[in-house]
Amino acid sequence: MTQPDGTVVAAPVILALETSCDESAVAVLRGTELVASEVASQISLHEAYGGVVPEVASRNHLRVLQPLVDAALERAGTALSLVDVFAATRGPGLASSLMIGASMAKGLALGRGKPFLAINHIEGHLLSPFFGRPEGIRPAIALVVSGGHTLLVEIEDFGKYRLLGQTQDDAAGEAFDKVGKLLGLPYPGGPNIDLVARSGNPHSHSFPRSMMSSGDDAFSFSGLKTAVRYLLPKLEDPNTADLCASFQEAIVDVLVSKTIRAARRTGRKIVAVSGGVSCNSRLRARFESECAAAGLELLLAEPALCTDNAAMIGYVAALRFARNQGSEFSVDIDPNLRLVA
Ligand code: KG4
Ligand code: ZN
Repeated sequence: MTQPDGTVVAAPVILALETSCDESAVAVLRGTELVASEVASQISLHEAYGGVVPEVASRNHLRVLQPLVDAALERAGTALSLVDVFAATRGPGLASSLMIGASMAKGLALGRGKPFLAINHIEGHLLSPFFGRPEGIRPAIALVVSGGHTLLVEIEDFGKYRLLGQTQDDAAGEAFDKVGKLLGLPYPGGPNIDLVARSGNPHSHSFPRSMMSSGDDAFSFSGLKTAVRYLLPKLEDPNTADLCASFQEAIVDVLVSKTIRAARRTGRKIVAVSGGVSCNSRLRARFESECAAAGLELLLAEPALCTDNAAMIGYVAALRFARNQGSEFSVDIDPNLRLVA
């Protein structure tokens, strides 16, 4: 890629910032190779409220981002003066959180006369299963399952995405978190349900598999959460492990079957799964066995790349930079940014 001063950079040093929600994250890459990734979780700050409080999140980003940048640069054995490209998440996310990372990256880039890239958070998740693989981006059916999104996407190539379907109400992670709260588990519900479900019976309760056979690629999880809410008062001695395992199985059934069906229908041979919920041990195991049975290659994002991180933002930035696709400094954050316009 050509720098503003005309020099060409082969494997640029990229500093990427991610502050779309409640994780402050910084990564350093050399080209598409990850050299440092720092994530400061805010879970303990939001736990008392049972969810993310935007004001608390943005204040904390402001407090930790600079030390996190210093730590990432030090771990990478480089310095701010050696960074060739600055990138940050543009959206979607909380406006007051996005603003912190984007302003900092823009300021650093402007001050040093370096390029700035504004990156779509969903594209970061979407491409994270390809990160670190020498083949790069390949045609695939991709499932993105996070706290804010549940999307099925057909990837043709880098930047060529077709949205097949998405959730019509709650995201899969949102359903995990809301049900975790109903069951009295600590925040966030997702990883705690995963843990507790390991000692439960997934067939003890039969929860709805909404839209499993709807014939399209859309999802709906709010009915599942409501089913848990209505069942709870009827149980004399609720077994939390059984409830967790049965609820999790219902979500996993829908996600796995609809993704594999989309792959079969489109003829794509690769299934790529990403986003916070793709950390889920049952989801990973079911995708592994069912993709193998269906003759599909499965790419799961590494657990550290499933939940929010800046490495995935840096990866998209590296791919864009290599194609000379910089961003104007006038590009603003967009809390409602979509993957496909
Ligand atoms: O990707 P992410 O960090 O943030 C968003 O972009 O939303 O995803 C966070 C979501 C939360 O809802 C969290 O409960 C869920 O991912 N999650 C899990 C697991 N680990 C994180 N859900 C189910 N099982 C897990 N092991
Ligand atoms: Zn995310």
